[in-house]
Amino acid sequence: MEKRQFGSTDMQVGILGFGGAEIGFQGATGKTVEELLSSALDAGLNVIDTAECYRNSEELIGKTVSHRRGDYYLFTKCGHASGLEGQDWDPRMLEASIDRSLRRLKTDYVDLIHLHSCSEEILRRGEVIEVLQKARDAGKTRYIGYSGDGAAAYYAVTCGAFDSLQTSINIADQQAVDLTLPEARKRGMGVIAKRPIANACWRSGTKPADAYHHVYWERLQELAYPFLRQSLDTSIATALRFTLSLPGVHTAIVGTANPGRWRQNAAMLEAGPLPAEELAAIRERWQAVAGPGWTGQG
Ligand SMILES: NC(=O)c1ccc[n+]([C@@H]2O[C@H](COP(=O)([O-])OP(=O)(O)OC[C@H]3O[C@@H](n4cnc5c(N)ncnc54)[C@H](OP(=O)(O)O)[C@@H]3O)[C@@H](O)[C@H]2O)c1
Repeated sequence: MEKRQFGSTDMQVGILGFGGAEIGFQGATGKTVEELLSSALDAGLNVIDTAECYRNSEELIGKTVSHRRGDYYLFTKCGHASGLEGQDWDPRMLEASIDRSLRRLKTDYVDLIHLHSCSEEILRRGEVIEVLQKARDAGKTRYIGYSGDGAAAYYAVTCGAFDSLQTSINIADQQAVDLTLPEARKRGMGVIAKRPIANACWRSGTKPADAYHHVYWERLQELAYPFLRQSLDTSIATALRFTLSLPGVHTAIVGTANPGRWRQNAAMLEAGPLPAEELAAIRERWQAVAGPGWTGQG
């Protein structure tokens, strides 16, 4: 697995990470997660991303791979109370959330904690950033980041407080390529592509039932990239290689609850970056078709 220097941090991240939302939301069993993560770690995975509000995702990770803590960088998020006392973004609740994440993940520290998509207004108040800085000073996290999109992500990148950005970047969501990626690169920030294959929302050939996928589905109908008519494996590989070929992207955290998926997707990346002309064609099609409302999706 190719590794990239993650901004100005001391981390060398594998280009294919693991997104921990699906294991929580789809009710994956411990046995499935054990198989999925153990086999992926054996095959070269070194980035695991989760969050305070992906149901029991943090617990599943803690239970199944905390005994191998030295083998992976561990990223989580805070912001949503998710069962704790207090409102979302309340600084005291955030502190409790960080401590809860460490307990669930069965570790003394995470490598990176993100603010989980708060608004620009909340960011500008500064107190949520101070909570993360205190957690870093206390050794609970090594680095701090912002996870989100659009104007709030732009503020997060340019305010200088964060080591990294996690943002939506994929064939159906390219606002970040022009808005935040160049600024993040200038500042030596690590960049994590979330939703990196646009949720594979074209996989069944019909409009997905889950409303979360509808914006990308509608956009892809209009973008009508020719490669989407190829086999599913080929189109997924093109989508993933597109995201990872964009300058400034360090890792793509594809989400899955399927034990064989990480290795399958890792094999797709052995082909290397997308040829320059294919990358340019996807970018040009986006620039020709995307309307002003085609903003980064959370
Ligand atoms: N605000 C935030 O901070 C935020 C928001 C969204 C996401 N995230 C993070 O980003 C991660 C990734 O985002 P995401 O999971 O929403 O989107 P994604 O990674 O673009 O897509 C995941 C979906 O693609 C499917 N898939 C993966 N490989 C496939 C393949 N080779 N063929 C067919 N289907 C394939 C998976 O299904 P299978 O289970 O069948 O593999 C899953 O349903 C999340 O897990 C989470 O960690 C953060």
